[in-house]
Amino acid sequence: MSNIIDKIKSKIHALIFWQSPIGDFANKMYDLKLFYKYSFKKSYTKSKESEIAYLTKQYHIVEKGLALPNPRLGFGKEKINLLLKKSIEYKEKYGEDQLVQSIKNCLSEYLEFNKLNNVKIESEYFESISKFTGSNQNQIKEGGTKLINKEDLKNITNINFENFVKSRFSIRDYDHTDVDLEIIKNAVDIAKHAPSVCNRQSWRAHVYKEKDQILPMLKIQGGNNGFTDSINKLIIITTDTKAFTTLESNQLYIDGGLFSMNLVLSLHSKGIGSCCLNTCFPFTSEKKVKKIGEIPNNEKIIMMVGVGNLKSNYKVAISKKKALTEIIRIH
Ligand SMILES: Cc1cc2nc3c(=O)[nH]c(=O)nc-3n(C[C@H](O)[C@H](O)[C@H](O)COP(=O)(O)O)c2cc1C
Repeated sequence: MSNIIDKIKSKIHALIFWQSPIGDFANKMYDLKLFYKYSFKKSYTKSKESEIAYLTKQYHIVEKGLALPNPRLGFGKEKINLLLKKSIEYKEKYGEDQLVQSIKNCLSEYLEFNKLNNVKIESEYFESISKFTGSNQNQIKEGGTKLINKEDLKNITNINFENFVKSRFSIRDYDHTDVDLEIIKNAVDIAKHAPSVCNRQSWRAHVYKEKDQILPMLKIQGGNNGFTDSINKLIIITTDTKAFTTLESNQLYIDGGLFSMNLVLSLHSKGIGSCCLNTCFPFTSEKKVKKIGEIPNNEKIIMMVGVGNLKSNYKVAISKKKALTEIIRIH
Protein backbone atom coordinates (compact mmCIF):
# COMPACT_ATOMS: atom_id res chain seq x y z
CA MET A 1 0.00 0.00 0.00
CA SER A 2 2.73 2.47 1.01
CA ASN A 3 4.49 1.57 -2.23
CA ILE A 4 1.48 2.67 -4.25
CA ILE A 5 1.19 5.90 -2.23
CA ASP A 6 4.89 6.64 -2.86
CA LYS A 7 4.42 6.03 -6.58
CA ILE A 8 1.40 8.37 -6.69
CA LYS A 9 3.32 11.02 -4.75
CA SER A 10 6.26 10.77 -7.10
CA LYS A 11 3.94 11.01 -10.15
CA ILE A 12 2.28 14.14 -8.74
CA HIS A 13 5.69 15.61 -7.92
CA ALA A 14 6.89 14.93 -11.47
CA LEU A 15 3.74 16.43 -12.96
CA ILE A 16 4.09 19.61 -10.92
CA PHE A 17 7.83 20.21 -10.84
CA TRP A 18 8.95 18.77 -14.19
CA GLN A 19 6.04 19.42 -16.46
CA SER A 20 3.88 22.34 -15.36
CA PRO A 21 4.23 26.13 -15.58
CA ILE A 22 3.76 26.19 -11.78
CA GLY A 23 6.85 23.99 -11.48
CA ASP A 24 8.81 26.20 -13.88
CA PHE A 25 7.85 29.23 -11.85
CA ALA A 26 8.72 27.54 -8.54
CA ASN A 27 12.12 26.48 -9.88
CA LYS A 28 12.93 30.00 -11.07
CA MET A 29 11.76 31.44 -7.74
CA TYR A 30 14.07 29.06 -5.88
CA ASP A 31 17.07 30.25 -7.92
CA LEU A 32 16.09 33.86 -7.45
CA LYS A 33 15.55 33.48 -3.72
CA LEU A 34 18.84 31.64 -3.29
CA PHE A 35 20.72 34.28 -5.24
CA TYR A 36 19.19 37.26 -3.47
CA LYS A 37 19.67 35.70 -0.08
CA TYR A 38 23.44 35.45 -0.42
CA SER A 39 24.64 37.83 -3.14
CA PHE A 40 25.73 41.32 -2.15
CA LYS A 41 24.92 44.83 -3.32
CA LYS A 42 27.83 47.07 -4.36
CA SER A 43 30.07 47.66 -1.36
CA TYR A 44 27.54 46.25 1.09
CA THR A 45 28.72 42.84 2.22
CA LYS A 46 26.96 40.26 4.33
CA SER A 47 29.59 37.59 4.90
CA LYS A 48 33.35 37.02 4.88
CA GLU A 49 33.03 35.29 1.49
CA SER A 50 31.26 38.35 0.06
CA GLU A 51 33.88 40.66 1.57
CA ILE A 52 36.63 38.59 -0.06
CA ALA A 53 34.76 38.71 -3.39
CA TYR A 54 34.23 42.45 -3.08
CA LEU A 55 37.89 43.17 -2.25
CA THR A 56 39.11 40.84 -5.01
CA LYS A 57 36.89 42.64 -7.51
CA GLN A 58 38.04 46.04 -6.25
CA TYR A 59 41.79 45.39 -6.21
CA HIS A 60 41.56 43.61 -9.55
CA ILE A 61 40.35 46.91 -11.02
CA VAL A 62 43.75 48.32 -10.04
CA GLU A 63 45.85 45.41 -11.30
CA LYS A 64 44.06 45.29 -14.64
CA GLY A 65 44.46 49.08 -14.88
CA LEU A 66 48.20 48.62 -14.42
CA ALA A 67 48.21 46.01 -17.21
CA LEU A 68 46.83 48.49 -19.77
CA PRO A 69 49.13 49.85 -22.48
CA ASN A 70 49.09 53.39 -21.07
CA PRO A 71 47.61 53.56 -17.59
CA ARG A 72 46.37 57.02 -16.68
CA LEU A 73 48.60 58.59 -14.03
CA GLY A 74 46.94 58.51 -10.62
CA PHE A 75 43.99 56.53 -12.04
CA GLY A 76 41.15 55.17 -9.97
CA LYS A 77 41.44 57.49 -6.95
CA GLU A 78 37.84 57.09 -5.85
CA LYS A 79 37.84 53.30 -6.22
CA ILE A 80 41.22 52.96 -4.52
CA ASN A 81 40.11 55.08 -1.56
CA LEU A 82 37.16 52.73 -1.14
CA LEU A 83 39.44 49.70 -1.54
CA LEU A 84 41.74 51.07 1.15
CA LYS A 85 38.90 51.72 3.58
CA LYS A 86 37.41 48.25 3.06
CA SER A 87 40.82 46.53 3.16
CA ILE A 88 41.67 48.15 6.49
CA GLU A 89 38.30 47.08 7.92
CA TYR A 90 38.86 43.54 6.57
CA LYS A 91 42.39 43.35 7.99
CA GLU A 92 41.15 44.49 11.40
CA LYS A 93 38.47 41.77 11.37
CA TYR A 94 40.35 38.82 9.89
CA GLY A 95 44.05 39.68 10.13
CA GLU A 96 46.74 39.76 7.47
CA ASP A 97 45.97 36.95 5.03
CA GLN A 98 46.90 36.24 1.42
CA LEU A 99 44.20 38.55 0.11
CA VAL A 100 45.57 41.48 2.13
CA GLN A 101 49.03 40.61 0.85
CA SER A 102 47.80 40.64 -2.76
CA ILE A 103 46.14 44.01 -2.25
CA LYS A 104 49.33 45.39 -0.68
CA ASN A 105 51.45 44.09 -3.58
CA CYS A 106 49.06 45.58 -6.07
CA LEU A 107 48.89 48.98 -4.39
CA SER A 108 52.69 49.05 -3.97
CA GLU A 109 53.02 48.61 -7.71
CA TYR A 110 50.46 51.38 -8.21
CA LEU A 111 52.57 53.71 -6.05
CA GLU A 112 55.75 52.69 -7.83
CA PHE A 113 54.13 53.29 -11.23
CA ASN A 114 53.09 56.80 -10.23
CA LYS A 115 56.49 57.52 -8.67
CA LEU A 116 58.29 56.42 -11.85
CA ASN A 117 56.06 58.72 -13.86
CA ASN A 118 56.81 61.67 -11.59
CA VAL A 119 53.31 61.99 -10.19
CA LYS A 120 53.50 64.08 -7.01
CA ILE A 121 53.70 61.23 -4.53
CA GLU A 122 53.55 63.14 -1.24
CA SER A 123 49.83 63.89 -1.44
CA GLU A 124 47.50 62.72 1.30
CA TYR A 125 46.07 60.11 -1.10
CA PHE A 126 49.41 58.47 -1.85
CA GLU A 127 50.44 58.68 1.79
CA SER A 128 47.36 56.75 2.88
CA ILE A 129 48.18 54.01 0.35
CA SER A 130 51.80 53.94 1.46
CA LYS A 131 50.73 53.69 5.11
CA PHE A 132 48.62 50.63 4.25
CA THR A 133 51.18 48.85 2.09
CA GLY A 134 54.09 49.49 4.51
CA SER A 135 57.56 48.56 3.26
CA ASN A 136 56.10 45.33 1.73
CA GLN A 137 59.50 43.84 1.00
CA ASN A 138 60.75 40.26 0.74
CA GLN A 139 57.32 38.97 -0.13
CA ILE A 140 56.40 36.74 -3.04
CA LYS A 141 54.42 38.94 -5.43
CA GLU A 142 50.79 37.85 -5.25
CA GLY A 143 49.09 40.88 -6.80
CA GLY A 144 49.76 43.58 -9.40
CA THR A 145 51.21 42.68 -12.79
CA LYS A 146 53.90 40.44 -14.23
CA LEU A 147 55.75 40.48 -17.54
CA ILE A 148 55.34 37.65 -20.02
CA ASN A 149 57.89 37.02 -22.76
CA LYS A 150 56.39 36.04 -26.12
CA GLU A 151 59.37 33.83 -27.01
CA ASP A 152 59.23 31.96 -23.67
CA LEU A 153 55.51 31.44 -24.22
CA LYS A 154 56.11 29.74 -27.56
CA ASN A 155 57.74 26.77 -25.84
CA ILE A 156 54.70 26.33 -23.64
CA THR A 157 51.97 26.79 -26.24
CA ASN A 158 53.72 24.60 -28.76
CA ILE A 159 51.33 21.66 -28.33
CA ASN A 160 48.81 20.23 -30.73
CA PHE A 161 45.81 21.78 -29.01
CA GLU A 162 43.49 20.96 -31.87
CA ASN A 163 44.20 17.23 -31.63
CA PHE A 164 44.03 17.39 -27.85
CA VAL A 165 40.60 19.05 -27.80
CA LYS A 166 39.25 16.83 -30.59
CA SER A 167 40.31 13.66 -28.78
CA ARG A 168 38.11 14.43 -25.78
CA PHE A 169 34.73 12.74 -25.77
CA SER A 170 32.09 12.24 -23.16
CA ILE A 171 32.77 8.74 -21.93
CA ARG A 172 30.08 6.40 -20.65
CA ASP A 173 32.09 3.20 -20.34
CA TYR A 174 35.01 3.16 -17.89
CA ASP A 175 37.08 0.33 -16.52
CA HIS A 176 36.26 -0.55 -12.93
CA THR A 177 39.52 0.47 -11.28
CA ASP A 178 39.83 3.31 -8.78
CA VAL A 179 40.65 6.78 -10.09
CA ASP A 180 43.54 8.16 -8.07
CA LEU A 181 42.23 11.03 -5.94
CA GLU A 182 45.57 12.82 -6.25
CA ILE A 183 45.05 13.04 -10.02
CA ILE A 184 41.61 14.56 -9.50
CA LYS A 185 43.05 17.04 -6.98
CA ASN A 186 45.73 18.00 -9.48
CA ALA A 187 43.16 18.39 -12.28
CA VAL A 188 41.09 20.72 -10.06
CA ASP A 189 44.25 22.67 -9.24
CA ILE A 190 44.82 23.19 -12.97
CA ALA A 191 41.17 23.95 -13.71
CA LYS A 192 41.21 26.85 -11.23
CA HIS A 193 43.18 28.83 -13.83
CA ALA A 194 39.96 29.39 -15.78
CA PRO A 195 38.99 33.04 -16.23
CA SER A 196 36.33 34.39 -13.88
CA VAL A 197 34.51 37.67 -13.49
CA CYS A 198 36.94 40.09 -11.76
CA ASN A 199 38.97 37.04 -10.74
CA ARG A 200 36.44 36.01 -8.11
CA GLN A 201 36.83 32.26 -8.60
CA SER A 202 33.49 31.41 -7.06
CA TRP A 203 33.69 27.76 -8.09
CA ARG A 204 33.85 24.72 -5.84
CA ALA A 205 34.51 21.12 -6.84
CA HIS A 206 32.89 18.61 -4.49
CA VAL A 207 34.54 15.25 -5.06
CA TYR A 208 32.77 12.06 -3.97
CA LYS A 209 34.45 8.70 -3.69
CA GLU A 210 31.95 6.64 -1.70
CA LYS A 211 29.28 4.73 -3.58
CA ASP A 212 26.68 5.31 -0.85
CA GLN A 213 26.89 9.02 -1.63
CA ILE A 214 27.50 8.76 -5.38
CA LEU A 215 24.68 6.37 -6.27
CA PRO A 216 21.72 8.24 -4.70
CA MET A 217 22.92 11.50 -6.27
CA LEU A 218 23.30 9.86 -9.68
CA LYS A 219 19.80 8.43 -9.27
CA ILE A 220 18.41 11.92 -8.75
CA GLN A 221 20.44 13.22 -11.72
CA GLY A 222 18.83 10.61 -13.93
CA GLY A 223 20.91 11.05 -17.09
CA ASN A 224 23.38 8.26 -16.37
CA ASN A 225 21.22 5.20 -16.88
CA GLY A 226 23.25 2.32 -18.24
CA PHE A 227 26.62 3.57 -17.00
CA THR A 228 25.87 4.47 -13.37
CA ASP A 229 27.94 1.60 -12.01
CA SER A 230 31.00 2.30 -14.06
CA ILE A 231 31.30 5.89 -12.73
CA ASN A 232 34.10 5.64 -10.19
CA LYS A 233 34.16 9.15 -8.72
CA LEU A 234 31.65 11.95 -8.95
CA ILE A 235 32.48 15.63 -9.00
CA ILE A 236 29.81 18.24 -8.41
CA ILE A 237 30.71 21.71 -9.62
CA THR A 238 29.03 24.57 -7.81
CA THR A 239 29.49 28.32 -7.63
CA ASP A 240 29.17 30.37 -4.48
CA THR A 241 26.36 32.93 -4.72
CA LYS A 242 28.12 34.95 -2.01
CA ALA A 243 30.81 35.88 -4.55
CA PHE A 244 28.45 37.93 -6.71
CA THR A 245 26.61 41.21 -6.61
CA THR A 246 22.86 41.15 -7.05
CA LEU A 247 23.29 42.16 -10.71
CA GLU A 248 25.48 39.20 -11.57
CA SER A 249 23.17 36.20 -11.38
CA ASN A 250 24.19 34.95 -14.85
CA GLN A 251 27.85 34.82 -13.82
CA LEU A 252 27.12 31.80 -11.63
CA TYR A 253 26.64 29.75 -14.76
CA ILE A 254 29.28 31.42 -16.91
CA ASP A 255 32.12 31.10 -14.42
CA GLY A 256 30.92 27.65 -13.35
CA GLY A 257 30.81 26.54 -16.99
CA LEU A 258 34.29 27.86 -17.76
CA PHE A 259 35.70 26.08 -14.73
CA SER A 260 33.90 22.86 -15.67
CA MET A 261 35.32 22.94 -19.19
CA ASN A 262 38.82 23.45 -17.83
CA LEU A 263 38.31 20.58 -15.41
CA VAL A 264 37.11 18.18 -18.08
CA LEU A 265 40.11 19.09 -20.27
CA SER A 266 42.50 18.75 -17.32
CA LEU A 267 41.13 15.29 -16.60
CA HIS A 268 41.53 14.43 -20.27
CA SER A 269 45.16 15.60 -20.19
CA LYS A 270 45.75 13.12 -17.38
CA GLY A 271 44.12 10.23 -19.18
CA ILE A 272 41.01 10.25 -17.02
CA GLY A 273 37.65 9.86 -18.72
CA SER A 274 34.69 12.05 -17.85
CA CYS A 275 31.09 12.79 -18.72
CA CYS A 276 29.32 16.02 -17.81
CA LEU A 277 25.93 15.33 -16.26
CA ASN A 278 23.27 18.02 -16.31
CA THR A 279 21.60 19.22 -13.16
CA CYS A 280 18.55 20.70 -14.88
CA PHE A 281 16.26 19.23 -12.30
CA PRO A 282 13.59 20.83 -10.09
CA PHE A 283 14.73 22.66 -6.98
CA THR A 284 13.35 19.83 -4.88
CA SER A 285 15.98 17.53 -6.45
CA GLU A 286 18.69 20.17 -6.00
CA LYS A 287 17.85 20.30 -2.30
CA LYS A 288 18.10 16.51 -2.03
CA VAL A 289 21.48 16.46 -3.80
CA LYS A 290 22.75 19.23 -1.53
CA LYS A 291 21.70 17.24 1.50
CA ILE A 292 23.31 13.99 0.38
CA GLY A 293 26.40 15.76 -0.96
CA GLU A 294 26.75 18.07 2.05
CA ILE A 295 26.77 21.11 -0.19
CA PRO A 296 26.08 24.44 1.57
CA ASN A 297 22.83 26.15 0.62
CA ASN A 298 24.59 29.28 -0.69
CA GLU A 299 26.17 27.27 -3.50
CA LYS A 300 24.40 26.82 -6.84
CA ILE A 301 24.88 23.44 -8.50
CA ILE A 302 26.24 23.90 -12.03
CA MET A 303 26.74 20.31 -13.14
CA MET A 304 27.95 16.89 -12.13
CA VAL A 305 30.95 15.24 -13.78
CA GLY A 306 31.22 11.47 -13.68
CA VAL A 307 34.80 10.20 -13.93
CA GLY A 308 36.51 6.88 -14.46
CA ASN A 309 39.71 5.31 -15.71
CA LEU A 310 39.92 4.55 -19.41
CA LYS A 311 39.50 1.05 -20.82
CA SER A 312 42.11 -0.01 -23.42
CA ASN A 313 39.41 0.44 -26.03
CA TYR A 314 36.14 2.24 -25.48
CA LYS A 315 33.23 3.32 -27.62
CA VAL A 316 31.97 6.90 -27.57
CA ALA A 317 29.05 8.64 -29.22
CA ILE A 318 30.28 10.54 -32.28
CA SER A 319 28.34 13.65 -31.27
CA LYS A 320 28.87 15.24 -34.66
CA LYS A 321 29.87 18.87 -34.45
CA LYS A 322 28.22 21.55 -36.56
CA ALA A 323 30.00 22.98 -39.58
CA LEU A 324 32.06 26.10 -38.93
CA THR A 325 29.81 28.04 -41.28
CA GLU A 326 26.85 27.34 -39.01
CA ILE A 327 28.66 28.81 -36.04
CA ILE A 328 30.87 31.61 -37.20
CA ARG A 329 29.53 35.00 -38.26
CA ILE A 330 32.21 37.34 -39.43
CA HIS A 331 30.97 40.91 -39.23
C1 LIG B 1 26.22 20.54 -18.96
C2 LIG B 1 26.19 19.22 -19.65
C3 LIG B 1 25.31 18.25 -19.22
C4 LIG B 1 25.31 16.98 -19.80
N1 LIG B 1 24.48 16.04 -19.31
C5 LIG B 1 24.57 14.76 -19.75
C6 LIG B 1 23.83 13.74 -19.13
O1 LIG B 1 23.04 13.97 -18.23
N2 LIG B 1 24.01 12.47 -19.57
C7 LIG B 1 24.88 12.16 -20.58
O2 LIG B 1 25.01 10.98 -20.91
N3 LIG B 1 25.61 13.13 -21.18
C8 LIG B 1 25.49 14.42 -20.78
N4 LIG B 1 26.25 15.41 -21.36
C9 LIG B 1 27.20 15.08 -22.43
C10 LIG B 1 26.72 15.54 -23.79
O3 LIG B 1 25.79 14.66 -24.30
C11 LIG B 1 27.95 15.68 -24.70
O4 LIG B 1 28.84 16.63 -24.17
C12 LIG B 1 27.61 16.08 -26.13
O5 LIG B 1 26.85 15.12 -26.79
C13 LIG B 1 28.87 16.31 -26.93
O6 LIG B 1 29.68 15.15 -26.93
P1 LIG B 1 31.19 15.16 -26.49
O7 LIG B 1 31.24 15.64 -25.07
O8 LIG B 1 31.65 13.76 -26.64
O9 LIG B 1 31.89 16.12 -27.39
C14 LIG B 1 26.21 16.70 -20.86
C15 LIG B 1 27.07 17.70 -21.32
C16 LIG B 1 27.06 18.93 -20.74
C17 LIG B 1 28.01 19.99 -21.24
